[in-house]
Amino acid sequence: MAEFSKTLMNRRTIRKYSSQEVDDSLLNELLTMGCRASTTGNMQVYSIIVTRDTQIKKELSPLHFNQKMITEAPVVLTFCADFNRFNKWCVLRNAEPGYDNFLSFMTAAIDALLVAQTVCVAAESKGLGICYLGTTTYTADKIIEVLKLPKGVIPVTTVTLGWPAENPEQVDRLPLEAVVHKERYVDYTKETIEEYYRSKEERDDSKQFVKENNKESLAQVFTDVRYKKSDNEYFSGVLLQVLKDQGFIEQ
Ligand SMILES: Cc1cc2nc3c(=O)[nH]c(=O)nc-3n(C[C@H](O)[C@H](O)[C@H](O)COP(=O)(O)O)c2cc1C
Repeated sequence: MAEFSKTLMNRRTIRKYSSQEVDDSLLNELLTMGCRASTTGNMQVYSIIVTRDTQIKKELSPLHFNQKMITEAPVVLTFCADFNRFNKWCVLRNAEPGYDNFLSFMTAAIDALLVAQTVCVAAESKGLGICYLGTTTYTADKIIEVLKLPKGVIPVTTVTLGWPAENPEQVDRLPLEAVVHKERYVDYTKETIEEYYRSKEERDDSKQFVKENNKESLAQVFTDVRYKKSDNEYFSGVLLQVLKDQGFIEQ
């Protein structure tokens, strides 16, 4: 298999890093490659905050629910949807920015995620390990304070980066036919849901997960433990307030 295909097919999330640094020239190379990602209208409505400082990592740590990768990885990258810079350019050039709305937030968030994923693939192709942290959208209000993000800027995801100090088993994926629809969407039936989720449910690690959490099914581990309705509703409220405070939707 070609080298790049191998990088994509063999990847796995890395949560333990060695003490070896990721030097600035390598990081800059990864960020430069990341910024070649497609971007809406070539506006580049994103910013990337590089955190190496121990004190700032300590401040970020509880905002990522104390996941150890934040303090243990040499580099933490916070990818932000950012219309602040573009708005300022418009104003300076006598152009009226119309980006204080939800669509513009989505535009900037999509741009930020495309850069993030491109940086991740670039990093993995160099043998580095990465882990996304979804906690960013749960505590965006507090991350904004720590990283001093101005109006027009919202953190959308965080990636920890470092040299791997583990080689975990690859985790499963649904079969391709479960996620790909030919020409038009074909809705799932009880039978296809059974078929597509069977091998995931039959894995030993899944069974262990169900047992440890005292649940009847793997789906219940998601609905009752990992991604609960009450949490989702609470953090949706926080994020909606952030969208208001940062000027993307009306107060
Ligand atoms: C948006 C996003 C948020 C994630 N958040 C976390 C996280 O907070 N903590 C963590 O350990 N892994 C996190 N992950 C990693 C996933 O758990 C991981 O990608 C998934 O289990 C599949 O494993 P793999 O990447 O090794 O294939 C996140 C991944 C994504 C894409």
